[in-house]
Amino acid sequence: MQASASAKPLATVSNHETYLSQGIPSADSLAPNPLDQFSQWFHLAQSRPDDVPEPEAMSLSTVDAETHIPSTRVVLLKQVDPRGFVFYTNYSSRKGRELFPDGDYEAESPRGAYASLAFYWRKLHLSVRVVGRVERVDRATTQAYFDSRPVGSRIGAWASDQSSVLPTGSREELEQRVRDVERRFGVPEGTATGSAVDVGPEGKGSAAQETHIPVPPFWGGIRVVPFEVEFWAGRESRLHDRYRYTRKEGDEDASWKIERLCP
Ligand SMILES: Cc1cc2nc3c(=O)[nH]c(=O)nc-3n(C[C@H](O)[C@H](O)[C@H](O)COP(=O)(O)O)c2cc1C
Repeated sequence: MQASASAKPLATVSNHETYLSQGIPSADSLAPNPLDQFSQWFHLAQSRPDDVPEPEAMSLSTVDAETHIPSTRVVLLKQVDPRGFVFYTNYSSRKGRELFPDGDYEAESPRGAYASLAFYWRKLHLSVRVVGRVERVDRATTQAYFDSRPVGSRIGAWASDQSSVLPTGSREELEQRVRDVERRFGVPEGTATGSAVDVGPEGKGSAAQETHIPVPPFWGGIRVVPFEVEFWAGRESRLHDRYRYTRKEGDEDASWKIERLCP
């Protein structure tokens, strides 16, 4: 049945937030490179943990190459480097398959599909949007990051066939897979689920934390190499400041063009 325009809403929002950042007075106040500009804003957000509890949380949008259906989820930014924005995930997940449709996650640094990111730091009234093309992070960098994770998260990466359906639909099935991985790597049962005696949440501070667990071949870093980055600073009466950096896609030596956009 077609939803009618008069259908009773299930939720409404009636407040009108006033956005009052310092704004972006002119393009001259921006760094010539958007990754440098992003780093400045990100450091500001990181310096205000009470106002911005998780500045690294970002929305990631991908598109299914066959159906053209988009999907968005939240992931964590783990590094900004001169090439782009890095996060870690399961390459076989929905996002992983949409970003690398070839599915060959053993191949060295192949170029993937387009992706978009969005950050929103509410108390700062700042937002950043990124459009780029992805590439896989090299295995040595992925291994180094994987080794830095709590042992429970490393086990979880092996145990979770991310985005696939659990046939029985039960949590127990997932926890059984976790126990199988714990046994495989000689880690006390219950380390990842926090139920192991004397191990503590995720094995932090325990002997289990020191266990060498190889990085799963289907898991690793993804870098979004941008060709468009927009900086949004909230101002009064919705007359926000917006600046967009663009460069030719695929040409990382190209200089960035900066333009002001209507809010
Ligand atoms: C705050 C937050 C941070 C998250 N960080 C990550 C992350 O860094 N990597 C990841 O794979 N999933 C992360 N997730 C889970 C994803 O949102 C998503 O559920 C999962 O990656 C599966 O997405 P997919 O099925 O579209 O591939 C996070 C979720 C939240 C709410």
